[in-house]
Formats: sequence, C-alpha cells, structure tokens
Amino acid sequence: MNETKPVEWLGDRLMIIDQTRLPQHESYIELADHYQVAEAIKSLKVRGAPAIGVAAAYGIALGALKIDSRDLTEFRDQYRAIAAEIAATRPTARNLFMAAERLNAVADKARDVIAAKEALVAEAEKIHCEEIESTRRIAEYGAALIKDGDTVLTHCNTGPLATTGRGTALGVIIEAHRQGKRIQVLTTETRPLCQGARLTTWELKKAHVPFRLITDSMAGHFLKEARVDLVITGADRIARNGDTANKIGTYGIAVLARENKVPFYIAAPSTTFDDRIATGEEIVIEERSPDEVTHQAGKRVAPEGIEVCNPAFDVTPARYITGFITETGIRKSA
Ligand code: MRU
Repeated sequence: MNETKPVEWLGDRLMIIDQTRLPQHESYIELADHYQVAEAIKSLKVRGAPAIGVAAAYGIALGALKIDSRDLTEFRDQYRAIAAEIAATRPTARNLFMAAERLNAVADKARDVIAAKEALVAEAEKIHCEEIESTRRIAEYGAALIKDGDTVLTHCNTGPLATTGRGTALGVIIEAHRQGKRIQVLTTETRPLCQGARLTTWELKKAHVPFRLITDSMAGHFLKEARVDLVITGADRIARNGDTANKIGTYGIAVLARENKVPFYIAAPSTTFDDRIATGEEIVIEERSPDEVTHQAGKRVAPEGIEVCNPAFDVTPARYITGFITETGIRKSA
C-alpha cells in the first residue's frame, strides 16, 4: 500500500507529505534547509517517532551540505549548532536523538569537509533504509499475534506516515489483513490532534482494512464488552525496564486492557529503545501549546482565558505491557 513516500531525500532538499493537511489534502512540501526541517518537526508536518528520526537525520545532513567552509574546525562548529537545533525540536521520541547521535559520530570521524558532507548524507540514507527494513520485520513478526476474526484496538498513528516504512502497530495490523485474516480494527481518534481520526483512518482506508473510528473515551467500554481481542500501539521511547512513552491516552488504554484481561502489545524498532535510562521516570514529556486543546480543526471549542494542560505523551509502566514487537522478534520485556 505504501506508494506514498512520507519522507523523500532529493539530493539537496527534503520532500515530505504535510501530515497536518491530511486527510483533506495530500500535499507534498520541499524543505530547503535545516531550519525548515526543524519547523516541520515542531509543527508535526512530519511526526511519529521513526519518521521524526529519519527527517532529523536528513535535516542535519541538509544543514551540513549548506555549510560554506572548507576548514574542518569551522565546519564542525557550524555543524554542531545545526545538529543541536534539530535535536531541540521535540523532547520525547528517542529516534530523534538516536539520529543526531549517529550523525554526530560521523561528523567527528571525518577527515575533511567534503568527506564529512558525503558521509553525513550516506548515514541519513542508512538510517532511513534501516527504519524501512525494521518495520517490514515488525509487521511480519507481529502479524502472527493476530488471529483470524480478531478485533484489534490501536491508538494514535503508527503507519507508513509515522515511520516512512510499513508502520509499527499499524504495520502489524495491515500485514495481518494482507495475509487474509478477517480482522476488524478499532482506532481511537487520539485527541487533541486526532492522529487516529485523521491519519490512521486514512491509512487503513487506503489499505482496505475494515475499521471503525471511536473517540478516546470509548476505549474502556469496548474493552469491557469483550469486543477487543488485543491492543497494539507504537512507542516514542522505551526505558531499560520497559516503561514506555507513547501518545497521551496510551496509559489509560493499557490499564483498561489489563483490567479486562486483554493483551496489550507495543510495536517499536530498536531505535526507540533508550538503553541510557533505567525507568520511565527519566522520560521528558513534551508539553505542547494550549491551542491544541482549546481548538478543534482550527476552531475554538473552549472559552478564552482558561488554564489548559497539554502533555503530548504519557508513560505506561512495563507491568501493563504483555510484550514488545521489534525487528528481532516478540519479547516479554524490553
Ligand atoms: O506527537 P506525535 O504524533 O509525533 O506522536 C506519535 C506517537 O505517539 C506514535 O504513537 C509513536 O511515535 C509511534 S510511531 C510508529
């Protein structure tokens, strides 16, 4: 199904599908420098942990290509500012920092500016290829968990748009359908920005997977009524003990799944696992603009002058997670 290329390197610029305009408009935009890439990540034109990592890698490489100096020390000074700017766009997804760290290591090793520029582009392309390959494997391993006739509940958007490959949780679901299993999907709308209602429905429709859209607050009802066989979501960062940050609302679904004895799986590539942090307490949760809560599709739905909370992610403790679907297989713990 993946004819759409959510992120595409064009040699001297980056093309992305603008996810903020979907599903009404399938519009592609070209990003000519790292400032535009940083803005696109911040504003969620490109979003989803693996896709953020890929865009960040290309953004840093793009910034490096534009450095107008042959002096390696001067190049490295400017390079560091570019990489820091991209790394500061969003705090939660591990993939963003993984990409910056990998490119920084390449920049540190290069012997001259031309070699550095070539190696940085090559590393960004490698990260992109690896994410595509990881999601192919995740889809295949994970599909084995879904039986003919199952209903799968998912949250947020974890498909090709979010990964540049086949998707994590959604890749698993689409693969199970592709294998001929008669499945049903319940997808939450995922307030405040409705990644589920806008993007997951768009991707499921394209893949011809039967689904129904529900509001976030309906998830508990469907889990209790025994109308869900398993839950699969993606992740933005996974600590060593398996505590997992994902889109706000994931924690509630995981607790309700446990209460109703429904298995709850996380699908994520190794680039989302953060070996440097012991538990979810160390994960920085992004707080986004109040407008995202007070407005829906650009229209104000709450009174002016009120206090708003808008954490973009929550952390699900490892004890609620039945297993992790990764590119190396399915395992019980992180
Ligand atoms: O704020 P977003 O839309 O970037 O959040 C995305 C999510 O939380 C996804 O579930 C997660 O990145 C997994 S993507 C395969």
